[in-house]
Amino acid sequence: MHIIGHRGASRDRPENTLSAFEEAFHQGADAIEFDTYQHDDTILVFHDRYLHRTTNGQGRFKDSSLADLRHLDAGHGQTIPLLSEALLCIPADAWCNIEIKSLRDTQQWLEQLDKAITSARVSADRLLISSFNHHWLTDIKHHRPYLTIGALTASYTRNSIVDATAISASTLHVALDVITPEYVRDAHNAGLKVYVYTVDGHLDMLELESWGVDGIFTNVPAFARHVLHDE
Ligand code: G3P
Ligand code: CA
Repeated sequence: MHIIGHRGASRDRPENTLSAFEEAFHQGADAIEFDTYQHDDTILVFHDRYLHRTTNGQGRFKDSSLADLRHLDAGHGQTIPLLSEALLCIPADAWCNIEIKSLRDTQQWLEQLDKAITSARVSADRLLISSFNHHWLTDIKHHRPYLTIGALTASYTRNSIVDATAISASTLHVALDVITPEYVRDAHNAGLKVYVYTVDGHLDMLELESWGVDGIFTNVPAFARHVLHDE
């Protein structure tokens, strides 16, 4: 079962910062997950609509200029990372999940992704693109069929499996509150891998492993390794 650092090692470092990503891999994560916003001609790593929870800024993310956003303190003196900076943190034997929170223009977004991949020298096959917005994922898959797509869902219906298959997703990202062994079985029968968010408790980790879940998003990668690999 893959251990995916949720917003990096976000229990120990400020979430969605380069130090959280480096710490996640230091703790033995197989991958990291982070959230992204398209802001004019740049993709930035950020989770909230508003600035105040995770930075020293105020107001809405989208109302701030890129220069102002880049001057904010995202915790411990860290800046809000660019996508290209985040991709530079991925070791050669690891991968990352880019969750799209905001996409304003698909063509522009894809050009920005291409540039970030080139400057970070990371291969596209080590990226998993996910979103709750499946229209964006459909568009991305249409223009870049080689990219791997993950369908995010917060609910358990037969439709979520059918929907994920319909958009050619490879993975289904499911909330911990709704996952069941039957859901895992049905998704696997449909050819989908199942990743569950957000899993920080040892009983949940062991249970999900026994159900055959393929990966967990966790804020505590070192603890997950301890529980799952006895390290
Ligand atoms: O991608 C899984 C999970 O991160 C989705 O929820 O709010 O943490 O982005 P959220
Ligand atoms: Ca996320």
